[in-house]
Amino acid sequence: MYPLPVTSDREGYHGSNHFKYWASGLRDMHRLLQCANSYGVEVNVFLDIGCASGRVLRHFAINSHVQRVMGCDINSRHVDWIMTHLPKNIEAFQNTSIPTLQVEDSSVDLVSCFSVFTHVENFDSAWIMEIKRVLRPGGIAWITFLSERHWIGIKDGMPRYRNWYGHPEFAARRREGQRQFNRLVFRQRSDRSYSSIVFYNTEFLRCRWGRILDVLEVRPTFSAAQDVLVMQKTRSP
Ligand SMILES: C[S@@+](CC[C@H](N)C(=O)[O-])C[C@H]1O[C@@H](n2cnc3c(N)ncnc32)[C@H](O)[C@@H]1O
Repeated sequence: MYPLPVTSDREGYHGSNHFKYWASGLRDMHRLLQCANSYGVEVNVFLDIGCASGRVLRHFAINSHVQRVMGCDINSRHVDWIMTHLPKNIEAFQNTSIPTLQVEDSSVDLVSCFSVFTHVENFDSAWIMEIKRVLRPGGIAWITFLSERHWIGIKDGMPRYRNWYGHPEFAARRREGQRQFNRLVFRQRSDRSYSSIVFYNTEFLRCRWGRILDVLEVRPTFSAAQDVLVMQKTRSP
């Protein structure tokens, strides 16, 4: 039996509902594997970028046939937690905010980023290029993001945005009712690399990231109330 992280060690996910936290990781693993399967991609090597304390990774390590399970996060505390508490067949490492991963070229079948590009303020395209580098031809990337629909749908008092209503620029943009944008970035504090919220226009993303990886589909409000962009590294001719 492997322990669950306390709420503060899992980015607050699911508050005190530990079962819901555990089940959400299992559900997301099945969604990922079903998605890969639907595109005929066999998953032997999996990488979760921004894995936190292994919400999804733990299930890949325990409940799947996947042979190599890797995860990375910018927060060393999460990586330490995984290395202390989760199965030894998980390879966990810390990455930086510069898009470089200690992963071999063309070695990964499936990359996921759950609620990570919603916080990546800089180098988003360089990150997609780094994901392309590590994916094998035909490999799949599953990236969740906040879209224009989420921005337009923000209503006063929504718990998800409670840290943002008092943010001057966030409040001003909402007052303006701005609907047309490519990318909206709000930063909470300037001394940390992970303190922003980012919204993307879906068509803008399709063009921007679609130059790097092939866009297979966009799944609206699918994962953790975010949209999912499913992309693929072009198969070898
Ligand atoms: C909202 S949490 C989501 C955690 C996890 N993906 C999940 O679904 O349970 C965002 C995570 O991304 C990590 N993160 C933020 N920026 C990152 C970056 N540039 N590279 C890797 N991890 C990053 C944070 O440390 C945090 O663990």
